[in-house]
Amino acid sequence: MSAPPILRLGAVRDVAQFLQELKVRGLSIPCDATVASGPDSPLCAPIHRDGFNIGNRIAIQPMEGWDGTTDGNPTEHTTRRWRRFGQSGAKLIWGGEAVAVSPEARANPNQLMIAPHTEKGLAQLRNALVEEHRLTTGSASGLLIGLQLTHSGRFCRPHRHDHPEPLIAYHHPILDRRLGLSAESPLLSDSEIGRIIESFHHAAVVAQRLGFDFVDIKHCHGYLGHELLGARLREGGYGGSLENRTRFLREIVEGIRALAPGLEIGVRVSAFDLVPFRHDPSQSSNGRLGAGIPENFAGMLPYHYGFGMDPSNPARIDLTESFQFISLLEELGIRLVNVTGGSPYYSPHIQRPALYPPSDGYAPPEDPLAGVARQMEATRCLKQRFPQLIFAGSAYSYLQDFLPNVAQAAVRLGWVDAVGIGRMALTYPEILWDAVEGRPIQRKRICRTFSDCTTAPRKGLPSGCYPLDSYYKDSALGVKLQALKKQ
Ligand SMILES: Cc1cc2nc3c(=O)[nH]c(=O)nc-3n(C[C@H](O)[C@H](O)[C@H](O)COP(=O)(O)O)c2cc1C
Ligand code: SF4
Repeated sequence: MSAPPILRLGAVRDVAQFLQELKVRGLSIPCDATVASGPDSPLCAPIHRDGFNIGNRIAIQPMEGWDGTTDGNPTEHTTRRWRRFGQSGAKLIWGGEAVAVSPEARANPNQLMIAPHTEKGLAQLRNALVEEHRLTTGSASGLLIGLQLTHSGRFCRPHRHDHPEPLIAYHHPILDRRLGLSAESPLLSDSEIGRIIESFHHAAVVAQRLGFDFVDIKHCHGYLGHELLGARLREGGYGGSLENRTRFLREIVEGIRALAPGLEIGVRVSAFDLVPFRHDPSQSSNGRLGAGIPENFAGMLPYHYGFGMDPSNPARIDLTESFQFISLLEELGIRLVNVTGGSPYYSPHIQRPALYPPSDGYAPPEDPLAGVARQMEATRCLKQRFPQLIFAGSAYSYLQDFLPNVAQAAVRLGWVDAVGIGRMALTYPEILWDAVEGRPIQRKRICRTFSDCTTAPRKGLPSGCYPLDSYYKDSALGVKLQALKKQ
């Protein structure tokens, strides 16, 4: 029997039909028929655990805008985005956006970074967010704000958006080829990694001084922390055994505890992954990208080039080491975990399920709802095993009109502690707040996963919701993006 066609969520009449469609597709996504408002709403229940007081179950995911100044300071676009994060009503702000720990660690020339001359700008971002949050919710009590610290590793592009300057931890046969690297291309040495660890320490001290409650030591999406988790074939202190592959994290945590006592630590981790995907050229025509297919890994088995995938079949996820990783976080006293998967560079369909691919992507190889279900299931499994930890889940934006129903069910059933909003925060940040306040959902503002917020930066423009947010759509940037998309 062939798979049913991709469900067009915008055309689904109501929750009853959505539930029926999930059943037909055999997708395990919990969904409540109605969404409660007021203090009885599961999404309004505070989290009081291990000294954390988080006022509700709504989280804003880190969402970078590629819109800082070239010396790493925020611009008016950046400030607007952080204000909107505040307007969301979310009491957990997971990181704001990726902030590079040093100039060469940036993933793009407009990424924010930690430096003496950016401290004031970063503090202003936080203040703007808190101010808006107060206006929306009436109080900043129970608000927990983190700063995501990143080193972009293999995906560094600090000087030009179209000029990769990769700093790699090991040779990856597929990703090296894509970047034009050879077997002789140098790896980051152990002492260089040691210096990067020191820059994380320094960045954490700055974050604490600026008033952030926690720092996220980013271990996701193919960037350095995540690449090291998969550095099985690396020699030396940071590769090989899982103990070595987590040394980077452990040394960062040790230094932060010593230099910034009292600062909380969180980790956003790609808990699962797949072999890199590419578009199938035989299915591409008239500028339309073909569906995603896995790169040929036949000659690479067992597959040692990643984390959270089955070495005997890397087109299948495997959480064995992810469980060990979360267990380590617990041992290290880390309570805040944000589960994500894959990478926007080589497996976007598992990282941010979308109906429309970005310019460098591929058409969906599966119903994007399957991608949502995969993320939710991985988070549920990890949460079940580590009930004391506070888990934020990812990839809910694709649920569109049914996001509030699914978010409520996931929290109510204990699949996750906080529901993280990524792309939806660019177009309709207060969607869950509207729902819990009993206001109707504004359908015109719902993210329909057009992926322009990814296509724009791939073409050197700031990110934002170009199709739905008039701030971008009706601006010179919107005109420029349309022209670039036609080229
Ligand atoms: C434009 C854009 C910027 C993003 N920036 C970051 C980032 O800075 N750090 C990060 O960990 N994830 C980042 N992500 C990933 C999101 O946080 C989130 O995991 C992903 O979009 C899936 O969640 P969603 O379905 O709610 O969008 C970004 C995603 C997009 C589309
Ligand atoms: S551009 Fe707008 S509608 Fe498209 S994925 Fe991004 S936020 Fe959603």
